[in-house]
Amino acid sequence: MILGIETSCDETAAAVIEGGRKTLSNVVASQVDIHKEYGGVVPEIASRKHVELILAVIKKALTEADRHTGELEGIAVTNGPGLIGSLMVGLSTAKAFAYGLGIPLIGVNHLEAHLSAVHLEHDVEFPFVGLVVSGGHTSLFLVKNYTEFELIGKTRDDAAGEAFDKAAKALGLEYPGGVAIDRLAKEGNPEAIPFPRPFKSSSSFDFSFSGLKTSLVYYLRKHPDPDRGQLRDICAGYQEAIAETLTEKTLLAAREYGVKSAVISGGVACNSRLRALARERFGEEGIKLYIPSPILCTDNAAMIGALGAARLRLGETSELDINPYSTSRPRYFRGKGMASG
Ligand code: KG4
Ligand code: ZN
Repeated sequence: MILGIETSCDETAAAVIEGGRKTLSNVVASQVDIHKEYGGVVPEIASRKHVELILAVIKKALTEADRHTGELEGIAVTNGPGLIGSLMVGLSTAKAFAYGLGIPLIGVNHLEAHLSAVHLEHDVEFPFVGLVVSGGHTSLFLVKNYTEFELIGKTRDDAAGEAFDKAAKALGLEYPGGVAIDRLAKEGNPEAIPFPRPFKSSSSFDFSFSGLKTSLVYYLRKHPDPDRGQLRDICAGYQEAIAETLTEKTLLAAREYGVKSAVISGGVACNSRLRALARERFGEEGIKLYIPSPILCTDNAAMIGALGAARLRLGETSELDINPYSTSRPRYFRGKGMASG
């Protein structure tokens, strides 16, 4: 029985996971309405909100799971990557619970956890290729088992979610941009405006999305004030470029590594066009594709509990003096240690 805690960005989340695979509760308090006003996440506001919400969210997770703290066997928490001030709130709370209850603390990597979300719903055959597409990251991993993740590619500039969010801002749409673009694109023509597919056919597993964003900015300079119909076409074309690039790159990696399965997760994996296109292309290639339900793709604590349980099983617990980290991947574990990446 694991309590998972997640506060790396603007979602305050807690979940209770049983046996590593069963979600007894999954509570997410989103701050999106607060940050919307500013057109993006304001780190200082995010950490203050986490402080206000964290205990109530944990209490709700325990109540919904119908479990009490005495039944917990470990506390899993995201300690990076993410916003330091935000991470600190979840991590300090997790340390207090672990220390107070005398049970292990398990620091978990947020990106690896996004891929671990899949185990809460599916039996996936290892090894698999996993793509994490979120607001801050676009990373490809070769996942060897429940706890070994090898980074094989990542974005050289913007993350896919960032590409959506920045485009939405340029188009005067509200934050988070991916959701707004997804909605408008549904009625647009994806072929009306050709957007570039950077790195799509190169043999590297890296991504680049800043050129796509620049091409949109240039397009808007030439065609200012698009009407509703043009806006829909822009969204559809822009979204298509991202969905195609992500799908083809993941497919390339799956072929290159000879895996039978692939997983796509992270907030951008909620995108309806990416889900449909990836299913179609992987289906054609005969490679199994798993995309968690939207609630498990965006930030949540169930995925933290799932990975935490797998690490606890291997004795990979953390010391109580671990620190949060924003981008790097330090080794904190007493046991075998994490895979590099
Ligand atoms: O994983 P996540 O909840 O938080 C991070 O770890 O960053 O991902 C948030 C990102 C945002 O950039 C948001 O615009 C994007 O996920 N997103 C979407 C959709 N829903 C959320 N992007 C495209 N289409 C969507 N439907
Ligand atoms: Zn995330």
